[in-house]
Amino acid sequence: MASKNRLIVVANRLPVNRVKKKGRLAWETSPGGLVSALKPFLTETGGSWVGWGGSPGKAPTPFTHENIQIRPVSVTAEQVEKFYAGFSNATLWPLYHDCVRTPQFHRRWWWPYVDVNRQFAEAAAAEAKPGDTVWVHDYQLQLVPAMLREIMPDVRIGFFLHIPFPPLELFAQLPWRREILTGILGADIAGFQTPQGARNFSAACKRYAEASGTDTKLEHRGHTVVSKAFPISIDIENVEQAVTSKEVIDRAEELRKDFASKRAGERKILLGVDRLDYTKGIEIRLRAYEELLRRGAHTVDDCVLVQVAVPSRETVGEYAELRAFVERLTGRINGEYGQAGRTAVHYFRRNLDYKELMAFYRAADVMLVTPLRDGMNLVAKEYVIAKTGEERAGTLVLSEFAGAANELGGGALLVNPHDVDGLAATMDVSITMPESEVQRRMGLLQRAVRKNDVYGWAHGFLEALRS
Ligand code: G6P
Repeated sequence: MASKNRLIVVANRLPVNRVKKKGRLAWETSPGGLVSALKPFLTETGGSWVGWGGSPGKAPTPFTHENIQIRPVSVTAEQVEKFYAGFSNATLWPLYHDCVRTPQFHRRWWWPYVDVNRQFAEAAAAEAKPGDTVWVHDYQLQLVPAMLREIMPDVRIGFFLHIPFPPLELFAQLPWRREILTGILGADIAGFQTPQGARNFSAACKRYAEASGTDTKLEHRGHTVVSKAFPISIDIENVEQAVTSKEVIDRAEELRKDFASKRAGERKILLGVDRLDYTKGIEIRLRAYEELLRRGAHTVDDCVLVQVAVPSRETVGEYAELRAFVERLTGRINGEYGQAGRTAVHYFRRNLDYKELMAFYRAADVMLVTPLRDGMNLVAKEYVIAKTGEERAGTLVLSEFAGAANELGGGALLVNPHDVDGLAATMDVSITMPESEVQRRMGLLQRAVRKNDVYGWAHGFLEALRS
């Protein structure tokens, strides 16, 4: 039964993908924690999801999918280029990730960002009724909260930023900093992955948007905004169910044999799983592994690196450059250190399906999560839970600059992802770590991840928003 106060989710991506099934086009629920976490709240309230279907042009008419009203927003080819590839992913993305690439500031990208945000705000307003709750997601839609409040003052509006909110000195570079802050300040709650993100946001608002107040509560034009950390998590039960199934256990065993080659059981499997994105630190990770082999501390007889790189944002120049660089480096390492039947780096440029991914996690002795900056990083949390009930535990090597380090710092081996020598030394430690220490650390990690799942996260945010 739909209750009176509905939840409307507004996110750049819809929770469904267009797929071909038996020669016919159909909608299929997208994999991923966010969608499964929000689904119960949406179905319970007869709620809606406003988003972009992923291809340019006229959007399909609204439809219902698994009890959720889906309202696709049209984004033209020009808007995809300027709003999505441009302002979202070549201005904001690098700026918010510590400027690990130079953000590009172009006025010709700003106005399409404003226009598309207005289209989303109008679509949300068309779905919402007074008293409803609207939850806006991520950096692509930071203007939506204020735009929506102007059209509909009587809805509760939440905003959650999935990526880091940068420190004041970096955010200050943005020519449209005031507009972006004013956009988010239209929300009742602005949620971030870490307390530092919430503090950075408050500091920026006080400096550039005439807000007053504390790190956690801001006053702006007579409106109160709570600025708070809500660290996101994973669907623990779903991961557990998959990794304890016979299919995944058998597949993990098969992968172990394949990767460990002729010396089964002797080679330690080091694994990286990332979108092919320059914030993930893939190239420095590869250089550190190369350094490890160069030093002769380890050889392809006792370790192997498996890197899964999921294609992403390929129309953005920096992403194409990264791909070429990573592939050159992989070739160089294999050329230099590989042996017959024992490849140094197994590189997979593809999206693994869920069960296959779980089998990769389960097979890996060491998980390398070394982003240069990351809002949270759910791969780290998934890996930990994927080791449920597994005799051979595993070691998590984790960047200090991932949001997940706040929660997992106790059990993980923390690294500075820019430090090639330090990373190589940590890889060495992880390969030679005594089993009892691996187990002890994994115990700590499992306890830390199990404190909160993605349902708890969504519940916590919505409770705060509705109270
Ligand atoms: C990050 C962002 C999301 C985004 C995802 C995939 O996780 O926080 O908002 O959807 O990357 O990127 P894409 O550009 O393909 O949507």
